[in-house]
Amino acid sequence: MHETYEFEKPRIKKDLEPDELLQVILDYAAKIANERHLDNVLSLMADMGKEIVVADRCTVWLLDTQRGELWTKVAHGVSELRIPAGAGLAGHSIATGEPIFIDDAYMNEPYRDILANGALKTDQQTGYRTKAIMAIPFRNNEGEIMGCYQAINKMTESGVFSDHDLRNLSLAASYSGKSIESAMLAEEIEETQKEIIFTMGEIGESRSKETGNHVKRVAEYSYILALALGMSRSDADLLKMASPMHDIGKVAIPDSVLKKPGKLTEEEYEVMKSHAVIGYNLLKNSKRHILKTAAIVAEQHHEKWNGQGYPRGLAGEDIHIFGRITGIADVFDALASDRVYKKAWELDRILNLFKDERGHHFDPAVVDAFMESLPQILEIRDKYTDQLQEAQ
Ligand code: C2E
Ligand code: SIN
Ligand code: SIN
Ligand code: SIN
Ligand code: FE
Ligand code: FE
Repeated sequence: MHETYEFEKPRIKKDLEPDELLQVILDYAAKIANERHLDNVLSLMADMGKEIVVADRCTVWLLDTQRGELWTKVAHGVSELRIPAGAGLAGHSIATGEPIFIDDAYMNEPYRDILANGALKTDQQTGYRTKAIMAIPFRNNEGEIMGCYQAINKMTESGVFSDHDLRNLSLAASYSGKSIESAMLAEEIEETQKEIIFTMGEIGESRSKETGNHVKRVAEYSYILALALGMSRSDADLLKMASPMHDIGKVAIPDSVLKKPGKLTEEEYEVMKSHAVIGYNLLKNSKRHILKTAAIVAEQHHEKWNGQGYPRGLAGEDIHIFGRITGIADVFDALASDRVYKKAWELDRILNLFKDERGHHFDPAVVDAFMESLPQILEIRDKYTDQLQEAQ
């Protein structure tokens, strides 16, 4: 990269006209939305940022809260660059949530110390001349700051970044946050699977007879319902990965209750009900997105739309949509299967119960989605039967 050794480039470019700007954003948004690899999402975002604000360089920093670091993969010749989370202009802008503008890094007072240890030091090593800098934090869907754009050297005649640049780049970043999250999610899977296996191993093999295909079916039903409700593919995938753990708390329920052939006494039922909170407590401390989602599902899958469920008696939309979906999937599966305490119900009987409970136990929208998706649901039921499980 010869450009690294140029002292200062001529500033001859022009700011984008509104229609050009729109075109750049649309082009990149399409590419970014189709990209599943985080590295590529980051470098597309950096390229987009560079074009939008007519910068010489642009870096996308991401916050890794677990390690307390900022990292980027787009620095020239470096596969992954990591700095402490509070470091540099990027860290400062993320910590305050405010953008930073610097017109000339060599004349700037407020950030003198940061610059001396960052850009100016790097310039000394490379011969590059950093002048204008703009750092803008950006947020994920939950509104939490997840990283920051850092643009260096404005290549137009003015040579400085403007409020316009700030607005345009913020706009572009808001399109990208979701893509970064789903790319992260994809990369997270392998690590998560290991963590799940670890968690499961630690608490011992599940003893409940109904596990096995029960969790598999509940996962598939939940996925179908999520899509039928208009959720995105990535959210549906997330739920599919998380919902198998909805009953993980049952591993802590004594056999005498869990495997009781008949009806539970009131006291035993209270013990049984604790599986929701136990599952939540097992999962809630994980930093991984999938396991955090699993914690919500474990806690909320027995809540009811009318507020009569447990453990918290949440009602309506206070129950996470993932909890409402897994809840109906779980009941369908429980009723459609033999249990130690009951025989499987006929389909019509189940559907009648769902109609009766529409707006009582269950979210009406989720019941409607269930009815619409019935053919796919039954396909799953017939694909993952319990024969092998029961025979063991
Ligand atoms: P599960 O067997 O997976 O059942 C999940 C949910 O399906 C139940 O949540 C309930 O909402 C619904 N469900 C299951 N069977 C029936 C039924 O015969 N009639 C109706 N109307 N709904 C049914 P719930 O009640 O909170 O139970 C949670 C878990 O507690 C059950 O999970 C099961 O493991 C256990 N359990 C519940 N009742 C009994 C019982 O009478 N005997 C035994 N041994 N276990 C029970
Ligand atoms: C990474 O550190 O490479 C990924 C960040 C994360 O998943 O939190
Ligand atoms: C920054 O200065 O904002 C980032 C850290 C660095 O460039 O070394
Ligand atoms: C995602 O943004 O991909 C995860 C979905 C969610 O947290 O709702
Ligand atoms: Fe349960
Ligand atoms: Fe269940």
